[in-house]
Amino acid sequence: MEVFRPIPVDVLLVGEPCVVDLFMKLDDTLVPFLSKGGVLTGDHLRDLERLRVRRMFIKGSQAEAFEEYVQRNADKILTDPTVPSRVKAATFYISSMGALKKAFVKPDAPSLNRIKKEIVPLLKGIMKNEIVLGDLLAITQHDFNTYTHSVNVGIYATAIAVRFYRHDPSYGMNELERLSYGFFLHDIGKSRVPLSILRKRGPLSDEERSIMKKHPEWGYAILMETGNLTDEAAYIAMQHHERPDGTGYPLGTKDIHPCARICALADIFDALTSKRPYKDPMSPFAALKLLKAETFTVFDHELLTTFIQILGPDEDVTH
Ligand SMILES: [Fe+2]
Ligand SMILES: [Fe+2]
Repeated sequence: MEVFRPIPVDVLLVGEPCVVDLFMKLDDTLVPFLSKGGVLTGDHLRDLERLRVRRMFIKGSQAEAFEEYVQRNADKILTDPTVPSRVKAATFYISSMGALKKAFVKPDAPSLNRIKKEIVPLLKGIMKNEIVLGDLLAITQHDFNTYTHSVNVGIYATAIAVRFYRHDPSYGMNELERLSYGFFLHDIGKSRVPLSILRKRGPLSDEERSIMKKHPEWGYAILMETGNLTDEAAYIAMQHHERPDGTGYPLGTKDIHPCARICALADIFDALTSKRPYKDPMSPFAALKLLKAETFTVFDHELLTTFIQILGPDEDVTH
């Protein structure tokens, strides 16, 4: 049976032949909108706007071709100041998803370098306000597969770091780039976890859990073997499941690097707000409330406040 994937309308380019078949959802049914090779016109986009359609659907079997197409255009779109933020956000999301998928299948130096290349225009866009965070947050999907999770955590944690360190002169572009890279690859060690465990539709057994818990060390090893082990990436990969009260893993240390705490906040938030086969997603508000109850240190509290400011006033759980 064909599986369909949602894609944001904003990523479609007018005047270009479509590289995949496009479908739209009408009353819970997918209907063909434009066939592969058909040219998308301004009229098409206006129709979609009028119908308030923000997502289209593509066949899962054509997803890779689509992601490659978006990746090919990504550099141009992300660096063009005249392109609207919504389009940039959508392009980045699809393009980085494709890059992450490749990195998980084959975590070698070229695929990890590709992610580094993707992140720079994102960071610059956020810092220059050419990519509005709200547009990035609006586009996140919550189906909790390893790729969407990695991209979501990368976006949330990068947003937190950019805002949290905005007045700190020791965090310039290069430092933020190293942080962001580590965030997007925080779970790269999961590429060594068997798919039968990663995709299990239900809670893990003790043995499966102990294999899963090796992913921080495996992530560290992959980053080292591919020549990508900066201090930041090392701490993020190794410590993003450590907790300040010592209940985390793999070491149970209480001495955790700040960048790993930023990653942990984004990681838990995405896990809580995503749909799993055995649980419904939590609302952002409920997730932040739960996170608030688990802030152990002043630093954690400041990070959470920063995250709440990013997500917007509707999500304020501080009072
Ligand atoms: Fe993890
Ligand atoms: Fe994670």
